[in-house]
Amino acid sequence: MCGIVGYIGHREAYPIIINGLKRLEYRGYDSAGLVLSTQNGFQLAKTKGKVVDLEEKASGLDKTPHIGIGHTRWATHGIPNDVNSHPHMSNNNRLVLVHNGIIENYESIKQLLIDKGYIFHSDTDTEVLVNFIQLFQDEKGLNLQDAVRTALNEVIGAYAIAVLDNQDPDTVVVGRLGSPLAIGIGENEFFVASDASPFIEFTKDAIYLEDGDMATIRLGEAVDVRTIQSNEVVSLDIQELQLNIEAIEKGGYDNFMLKEINEQPRSIRDTMRGRLLVDEGVIKMAGIWDNQERFLNAKRIIIVACGTSYHAGLVAEYMIEDFARIPVEVEYASEFRYRNPIIKKSDVVIAISQSGETADTLAALKLAKEKGAFIFGINNVVGSSIARITDAGAYTHAGPEIGVASTKAFTAQLTILALIALKLGKHKGELTNEKFNLLTRELERIPDLVQQILDSCEGVVDQIAEKYKNNSNAIYLGRGYNYPSALEGALKLKEISYIHAEGYPAAEMKHGPIALLDENMPVIVIATKKGYYEKVVSNIQEIKSRSAKVIAIVNEGDLQVTSLADDVIIVPETAEEFSPILTAIPLQLLSYWIAVKLGKNVDQPRNLAKSVTVE
Ligand code: F6R
Repeated sequence: MCGIVGYIGHREAYPIIINGLKRLEYRGYDSAGLVLSTQNGFQLAKTKGKVVDLEEKASGLDKTPHIGIGHTRWATHGIPNDVNSHPHMSNNNRLVLVHNGIIENYESIKQLLIDKGYIFHSDTDTEVLVNFIQLFQDEKGLNLQDAVRTALNEVIGAYAIAVLDNQDPDTVVVGRLGSPLAIGIGENEFFVASDASPFIEFTKDAIYLEDGDMATIRLGEAVDVRTIQSNEVVSLDIQELQLNIEAIEKGGYDNFMLKEINEQPRSIRDTMRGRLLVDEGVIKMAGIWDNQERFLNAKRIIIVACGTSYHAGLVAEYMIEDFARIPVEVEYASEFRYRNPIIKKSDVVIAISQSGETADTLAALKLAKEKGAFIFGINNVVGSSIARITDAGAYTHAGPEIGVASTKAFTAQLTILALIALKLGKHKGELTNEKFNLLTRELERIPDLVQQILDSCEGVVDQIAEKYKNNSNAIYLGRGYNYPSALEGALKLKEISYIHAEGYPAAEMKHGPIALLDENMPVIVIATKKGYYEKVVSNIQEIKSRSAKVIAIVNEGDLQVTSLADDVIIVPETAEEFSPILTAIPLQLLSYWIAVKLGKNVDQPRNLAKSVTVE
């Protein structure tokens, strides 16, 4: 977690760092800091709070320097306060460093440094690292580049770092292992950032540093990339960025979450673009097609993911088993990686991750790769760590998702997983051409249906949000394909409104959660027509007879549930398999409006970060 940004060039570094940090705030926002390099040493400002608080703190700084680095933090070691904020300076004030990640062996290094007389002011692992680098300068007389490399070779953990040295003032040294780092290359200027968004208006040329590499960036010279382990020169792979500035701005919306909810007709269409060729009866996906032997002969597909992406995986389990009759297991990546799982060479392991950087998902994939399984990634961020280590994959193309709560990435994941399931079903011969054509035609309609929901249900959802915003708990129920939707609805509500919510398969209610029901418990029930409608009706009756309130998501023309429920939200009918894409929309809007009415910051909910690069 955490975002880092840096600049070295002919412009003033301060505004680039501040704007860059604002764009990276999704990665963490409990403290922020920056340092500017001047002829007379470093000017540092850092504070608990957000980047706006940093601007205030930095108001007295000389803003003319052309070199600087900055940081926005999601606390791991040490509570969010001014002292623990980055950048951290070495004891001799010569070095300054920002860090995204965790140094796992920091305690032993800290002890070694304390024994040598070093003093620590913060509780962070980062302050240990900067002093460790100083140690190699002090004791071995190494230059910045060599001291950083020597220190990183001793470090266990994950990091993306940027370091400045006031005795080598025109240089920034960066390195990465497990946390992302991009270097933007302009005309006699360089940018450094956790992703390319801070420099997108300045240059389209970027290098994504590989794990285990470091780079020395000096004005007037080509970037020098080397391996940390053996100091071997790495040839530069300069990529052209596809990102545009509009995609990372709010575009007239109050916040990114509402923008991203409303973008879904477009993002789902983009996910299908060039892949779903309905008239030709074809789904084109090179990552599947080029490896069809692995997929079609797979004895089992294991899906690993976290959070919302895990919920998408649960829907995929239903779809792939239904369409292709390949057994699927879905696992929390964090559990999978540590439980000594049985992984065979005949397995296909699919990792679903919006960011492509989630540490647990990445580690689960690495484990599967070691065991010889075929590993496939479904990511939204092009060039992300997961995308780079997988044997093959498919991007969701939802565009940058900046709101911390995942919305458009989730529906894009469901869409791409539907395409994969349909393609496998067709090639395995489990889906008839007729069924395949019927389903692909239905899938093609989904963006329009999502638009229809956005156009029709915002007012209704707003009223429901007003009615229930002060409840402290909520239960979400669904069955079959919409059981994962219930889990996702509950996750959305808790993460942005801080209201306690639980999702269950509707029939599971009678095995415990029913004890919670009374007039103060709203129950959100997904009761769309296909699937288990009659069974869900019975569940609703059970809820009503315990005096709880029912908010039901129903299809157009529904009478039975509508007559029982206290409130209804109507969505159009579609194939049961694709209904989670549609039911996700009112569930997102409901949590959004409740959170907004409660005055919460929906884009940056407390304690969360967009990209969880720590385990
Ligand atoms: C919830 C949310 C998280 C992420 C989870 C995995 O709205 O965004 O639960 O889904 O942290 O992140 P990715 O998909 O980037 O691996």
